[in-house]
Amino acid sequence: MAKQLLQILALWTFVIGIVQCCPKQCSCHDRYGNHVAACAYKDLREVPVGLPSNVSSVILSSNKIKFLKSKSFINVTQATALYLARNEMVTIERGTLAPLTQLLILDISSNKIVNFPWEDLVNLTALHILKINNNEMVNLPMDAFSTLEDMRFLHINNNKFTTIVQGTFSALSYLSHLQIFDNPFACSCSLEWLRDWISTTKISVPELTSIVCDTPENLKGMMVTNITKLDCEAPAVTVTSQPNIDESDLYEGVMVILNCVTKGSPTPQVSWEVTVGNQNYMFPLPSTGEMNDKPINDKTTRNRFLVFRNGSLIIPRLSEKENGNYSCTAVNDLGKAESGVKVVLTVSPGTSSSTPGFSPPAESITLTLLTILISSGIIHLSLGDMESTWIS
Ligand SMILES: *[C@@H]1O[C@H](CO)[C@@H](O)[C@H](O)[C@H]1NC(C)=O
Ligand SMILES: *[C@@H]1O[C@H](CO)[C@@H](O)[C@H](O)[C@H]1NC(C)=O
Ligand SMILES: *[C@@H]1O[C@H](CO)[C@@H](O)[C@H](O)[C@H]1NC(C)=O
Ligand SMILES: *[C@@H]1O[C@H](CO)[C@@H](O)[C@H](O)[C@H]1NC(C)=O
Ligand SMILES: *[C@@H]1O[C@H](CO)[C@@H](O)[C@H](O)[C@H]1NC(C)=O
Ligand SMILES: *[C@@H]1O[C@H](CO)[C@@H](O)[C@H](O)[C@H]1NC(C)=O
Repeated sequence: MAKQLLQILALWTFVIGIVQCCPKQCSCHDRYGNHVAACAYKDLREVPVGLPSNVSSVILSSNKIKFLKSKSFINVTQATALYLARNEMVTIERGTLAPLTQLLILDISSNKIVNFPWEDLVNLTALHILKINNNEMVNLPMDAFSTLEDMRFLHINNNKFTTIVQGTFSALSYLSHLQIFDNPFACSCSLEWLRDWISTTKISVPELTSIVCDTPENLKGMMVTNITKLDCEAPAVTVTSQPNIDESDLYEGVMVILNCVTKGSPTPQVSWEVTVGNQNYMFPLPSTGEMNDKPINDKTTRNRFLVFRNGSLIIPRLSEKENGNYSCTAVNDLGKAESGVKVVLTVSPGTSSSTPGFSPPAESITLTLLTILISSGIIHLSLGDMESTWIS
């Protein structure tokens, strides 16, 4: 009887042992009612398997862990603190951190992380302290912290962030300390908000003398809080057409000129987008280089469209195939603007016209149109030049 009891007891400890044992590289102990797995300074190359499921603090700092696999923490979902500072991590697999929904403290500072699994952060809504400083991160998504309403301390300093989008911290109502220094900031219009924000926020933003511009060259080394008002203007686009598409009939063979005129500072990136039938063409205009008379689009589309650096798009000979939407977009640091026209060939009377009444024959319109264009100096090319351009 006693022997049987002993056997059961042995089995019981064995079972408990499997579930709750501490990995042999760690030491586990209770502290103030929290269970702590202490595994720092152990030359660990990966997260040990078998962390106790009731663990609240997992200390893995100062090891040689190179990457985190997505299942590493699935058994420790009660954890409130995870310390991974001073390892050699480059990658954290997506989904690794998402199960740790109770985390109050996450420290992965001083690693070599380039791509952080930002989507995992969305689930860590309890976080109070997030340290991702001293890594190699380049992109900080605007909504990275949008669900972390309880955050108190945020350290993103000493990374490679070139910009921080306005609104990145706006969900963090309890934030009291924010470290952003030692990042290579690009002091363009899109960062100008930061200067004003730092000087008005109640959040402590330390080391202002290390929050400096890395680019452009003329601002390199200048404190972000010191940059003077930049010349910033949101983009604007106007598309005009010759003939005026809203007022004129467009007949087969006619030449249509669409001009895209843009404004904005910094000078916006401009592109034409053409949707004809079920085809879609993008013609980004080069932002550098000399203005010249050469179309920028390649030969395969030149018999239908000629796109020039100055923003003009010419349809040399309109046919039904060119019916569609022609839209010009301008983008700079401050935003995007778009304007477009719909080009529709007027169906000549006699074909399958549904519009009653007289329309002049196509040739006469074309001729009038050309006369207008030439006399107003809009065409510098003669028709002969044009043909040789698009045939060649
Ligand atoms: C967690 O589990 C271990 C191993 O079973 C146990 O020794 C410890 O007391 C537990 N700690 C807490 C805080 O529940
Ligand atoms: C999680 O627990 C299961 C079942 O106890 C075990 O098989 C698995 O190895 C554990 N995974 C990790 C990463 O600890
Ligand atoms: C993360 O949160 C989303 C949305 O609340 C949920 O669907 C998902 O299962 C969570 N992921 C994990 C690993 O807990
Ligand atoms: C910032 O501006 C102040 C006042 O104009 C000036 O004294 C200081 O040298 C500037 N510092 C930097 C780092 O640009
Ligand atoms: C743009 O350049 C093309 C080719 O040189 C020219 O035909 C067109 O008239 C120019 N557009 C404007 C608005 O000057
Ligand atoms: C052109 O744009 C209009 C309105 O945006 C849309 O209804 C139409 O389907 C578009 N046509 C093509 C060919 O994309």
